Amino acid sequence: MNRAPTALIVLALLFALVAGGLLWYLGERAAAGRSAEFGIADIGGPFALTDQNGVRRTDRDFRGRYVLLYFGYSYCPDVCPTTLSVMADALPKLGARASHIVPIFVTIDPERDTPAVLKKYLAAFGPSFVGLTGSLADVTKVAHEYRVYFAKHPLEGGNYALDHSSVIYVLGPDGKLVKFYDDAATPDRLAKDLGALI
Ligand code: NI
Repeated sequence: MNRAPTALIVLALLFALVAGGLLWYLGERAAAGRSAEFGIADIGGPFALTDQNGVRRTDRDFRGRYVLLYFGYSYCPDVCPTTLSVMADALPKLGARASHIVPIFVTIDPERDTPAVLKKYLAAFGPSFVGLTGSLADVTKVAHEYRVYFAKHPLEGGNYALDHSSVIYVLGPDGKLVKFYDDAATPDRLAKDLGALI
């Protein structure tokens, strides 16, 4: 083989590499664009669970009001009580307008979080809180609709804890997701944003 065809082959290979890389890059960009565009619309869905008073509640019960939706469990040592406190502290800052907002806590630990347990737990955060539980299958289905990750891990002594994502979802009066917050949410920020929405 003489030099010229070798150089051509090398050039062709280089071109293929660059073109392949570019196609991959564009594909990734397109995928990222899609998830950003459809991400919010894809999150959420209908639910039918039982509240802390033993009453069957569905997503339709909350139409016409804004919903602050959070998934967690009452035995959570840190993240859940902190986040529920953020929600609880944000609402009074809105005065009478807080009546347009329903804070909802969906348990991802229905084995322990019975309606009675949720009732006692949520009393600390305010009378407007709704606690929802159900069968593990029902709760898992709703959690998946909201892209909530949770996993059980055993503790010494036979107990268990749950790792879980911590996101506050804001649903609009039509039940659709408006926005969401990670752990960085503060009562002031939440109250300011909700005040602008309602
Ligand atoms: Ni938690």
